[in-house]
Amino acid sequence: MTGSRVISLGHYQPSRVVTNDELAQIVDTSDEWIRDRVGIQQRRIAADGETVADMAGIAAEKALAGSGLSATDIDMVIVATCSSVDRCPNVASRVAAHLGIAAPAAMDLNTACSGFSYALATADHAIRAGAAHNAIVVGAEKLSDLTDWTDRTTCILFGDGAGAAVVRATADGEEPGVGPVVWGSAPDKKDTLKIEGWRPYIWQEGQAVFRWATTAIPPIALQACERAGVDPSEIAAFVAHQANARIIDGIAKRLNLTNAIIAKDIVESGNTSAASIPLALSKLVERREVPSGAPVLLMGFGGGLTYSGQVIRCP
Ligand SMILES: CC(C)(COP(=O)(O)OP(=O)(O)OC[C@H]1O[C@@H](n2cnc3c(N)ncnc32)[C@H](O)[C@@H]1OP(=O)(O)O)[C@@H](O)C(=O)NCCC(=O)NCCS
Repeated sequence: MTGSRVISLGHYQPSRVVTNDELAQIVDTSDEWIRDRVGIQQRRIAADGETVADMAGIAAEKALAGSGLSATDIDMVIVATCSSVDRCPNVASRVAAHLGIAAPAAMDLNTACSGFSYALATADHAIRAGAAHNAIVVGAEKLSDLTDWTDRTTCILFGDGAGAAVVRATADGEEPGVGPVVWGSAPDKKDTLKIEGWRPYIWQEGQAVFRWATTAIPPIALQACERAGVDPSEIAAFVAHQANARIIDGIAKRLNLTNAIIAKDIVESGNTSAASIPLALSKLVERREVPSGAPVLLMGFGGGLTYSGQVIRCP
């Protein structure tokens, strides 16, 4: 059966850097508290007129430029986002128009912070079913639009940005590079993280989400390795959703990833929800920290509560 491979990545972050000291001027917090409790040193915040589609389009353009494919080869665009303000046209159609892709299947997908992994699995499944051949999968967020800048418990956490991947069908005899997805949700915990109503703000029971992430996610990540036939000791990089450095370390510790680089893009980007995994992965690959073909464990989790993970081969 045909599988798929991630063949290139790209990312975009707004130019404006917001430091912890800057936030300490608007809410009662400190650089020390934020570094200690969450691990963030700074985040990027989009300009007023800069949209989710703008950021998604630039990241997708970079991924496409590195793929060796052209816009006419792409027949599917999926954008994972929970922060796009516009309902229609969707972000995927705008990305397709930006890139000059003529007639792709174009959809947005919202599972909050697990969105990129869900979208990657959806593209992989479409390719396996013969419904697509070359897809662009994007995670893009402008969380600054959904942030209550008077709430110190949330406003220190989030940032804006986008990351994208080009995913193509494998050739005859070529090993698939996107492993089986392990995905699901915890609907009984749906009210622990909310972005509700109009005008919506992010609200969460931080400790409940923290506990769930550090206890429920490790066995799911191990299942993703098992289903890919990869021992955790073989994983070259662990790219988890960048929610909190302590959550990432807590999960990694339980996985026995003896040879893996642990992505910590949260330090310079904050929590960018669906963008955090492709953003962190794209930077690791750009810095050549992971060899091409090496197994990388992706693990998304967040609002819903939802989760999704798979092992991919590094482009
Ligand atoms: C949000 C989070 C960083 C808070 O850290 P925490 O260690 O759980 O902190 P608590 O909520 O217990 O708060 C501890 C104290 O710090 C205070 N505090 C909260 N935010 C603060 C801030 N920005 N600066 C200073 N103090 C702060 C609280 O008011 C509380 O004070 P109190 O003890 O006087 O009541 C942490 O719970 C977390 O990361 N949760 C997971 C969130 C997440 O991943 N969400 C997205 C999922 S995709």
